[in-house]
Amino acid sequence: MINQEDFFKKIISHAKEYGFVFPSSEIYDGLSAVYDYGQNGVELKNNIRQYWWKSMVQYHENIVGIDAAIFMHPTTWKASGHVDAFNDPLIDNKDSKKRYRADVLVEDHMAKIEGKITKEVAKAQKRFGDAFDETQFKTTNQRVLDYQQQIDTISQRFYAALEKNDLQDVKQLIEDLGIVCPVSGSRNWTEVRQFNLMFSTKMGSTADGANEIFLRPETAQGIFVNYLNVQKTGRMKLPFGIAQTGKAFRNEIVARQFIFRMREFEQMEMQFFVRPGDEKMWYEYWKKERMNWHLSLGIPADKYRFHDHEKLAHYANAAADIEFEFPFGFKELEGVHSRTDFDLSAHQKHSAKKLQYFDPETNQSYVPYVVETSIGLDRMFLAILSNAFSEEKLEDGSERVVLKLPALLAPYKAAILPLMKKDGLPEKAREILAELQEDFMCHYEEKDAIGKRYRRHDAIGTPYCITIDHQSLEDNTVTIRERDSMAQDRIPVEELAAIIRKRIRPVKQA
Ligand code: GAP
Repeated sequence: MINQEDFFKKIISHAKEYGFVFPSSEIYDGLSAVYDYGQNGVELKNNIRQYWWKSMVQYHENIVGIDAAIFMHPTTWKASGHVDAFNDPLIDNKDSKKRYRADVLVEDHMAKIEGKITKEVAKAQKRFGDAFDETQFKTTNQRVLDYQQQIDTISQRFYAALEKNDLQDVKQLIEDLGIVCPVSGSRNWTEVRQFNLMFSTKMGSTADGANEIFLRPETAQGIFVNYLNVQKTGRMKLPFGIAQTGKAFRNEIVARQFIFRMREFEQMEMQFFVRPGDEKMWYEYWKKERMNWHLSLGIPADKYRFHDHEKLAHYANAAADIEFEFPFGFKELEGVHSRTDFDLSAHQKHSAKKLQYFDPETNQSYVPYVVETSIGLDRMFLAILSNAFSEEKLEDGSERVVLKLPALLAPYKAAILPLMKKDGLPEKAREILAELQEDFMCHYEEKDAIGKRYRRHDAIGTPYCITIDHQSLEDNTVTIRERDSMAQDRIPVEELAAIIRKRIRPVKQA
């Protein structure tokens, strides 16, 4: 049994070896937390984006899309709160010269204590067998109660300090908990400082008095500033949504875990504008709808969970993460936030332009409330990739690496493989290719033995390999091999498109 760290390393090297993800500008040794997508990666990424767009825009009469610029007027970020509050508390270790997020150090410490609780539970479960009652154990076992008490005390002090921006107490807490630098092992820490995560650049020439502008840290603000344009030109009635996908940039202090936390990444966001008072109902609706979207890809439900936020951002009155079980544990994949009228009201104030909605049903004008769904495309890519990666031992003793990607998202839906490079087989294969590639991404390959070609397509997740042999010339049938079961069937060429189409349908959710 390999450990999760090694498993994750295997996924990263597989992603590179098979043209999914490369380190950015690798010939210059890469750029930290920036990645490029290769020939197969770009297909997978496009497919995820398209499926999201289709689900949000094409299937909802009351949601439309936009594509706003990455550069925005600098006041946007003052109004949104990003200039003043889009900060992470950072701390340096003086010996290793390594930089950390103070909140991550404390949260990791709490997670370690949580791990001790999990161990106690597992031990007890073994001891008591079927008679084990986890809730009762957790509420009565003294050792578990003590651990829980420790977590509660740390968490109360920590969040109170952050709330008051009392960075001295955050540092004191790190010292009191005896947290050491994982690299140097020392407790020689600097003060904690706030670090703004926005990248800035200059627009216009310096001689003309260039303006400092920011690379957007979220796509959402491009939607808010266009709210009235879309509402008026599209004659949209509440409730309605505006969707957008695009790049976002954050100067993350701790950028690790491959494409999980990047400095340049892509978001898929939707702001749903509702009548004030209706936001909680819509928040629950979108939580369910978004979870169903994930499940419609056929990934097991136990890989996902909700994490409801107890501590809310100043603009939110409810928020939850959809977490996914990555190889390094359950982590945030998507956020659903009830953002009240905070953003539109702030833009109204800073721009001095009315951003209201006239409600014909109540004859009143008001600033709509907003429920947001926000997912990182790269993070979704990693979730899909890590769930799909598997190594299998076959009956004949050989091994294969297979990406069990949802067929809907796979870079290629079918590989078209003439058994030999002669006797008219390539010509027949190209005929089939021309037919299928009208509707599906297909890959034509005639080099190497057929077994080798199967393995290559297993490794990039192609759901079907279609082999054209001498019999195909006689009766217009081909062999179709299914990726996961490796089962092979002989079928008429006319049935191919219907088989592929059926396989790439999403799984319907209740
Ligand atoms: N408009 C709301 C917003 O931006 P967020 O929780 O900061 O909320 C939303 O980000 C999603 O964007 C996250 O759930 C995550 O999937 C993705 N994301 C955020 N920071 C990221 C990063 N540095 N690298 C990759 N994805 C990131």
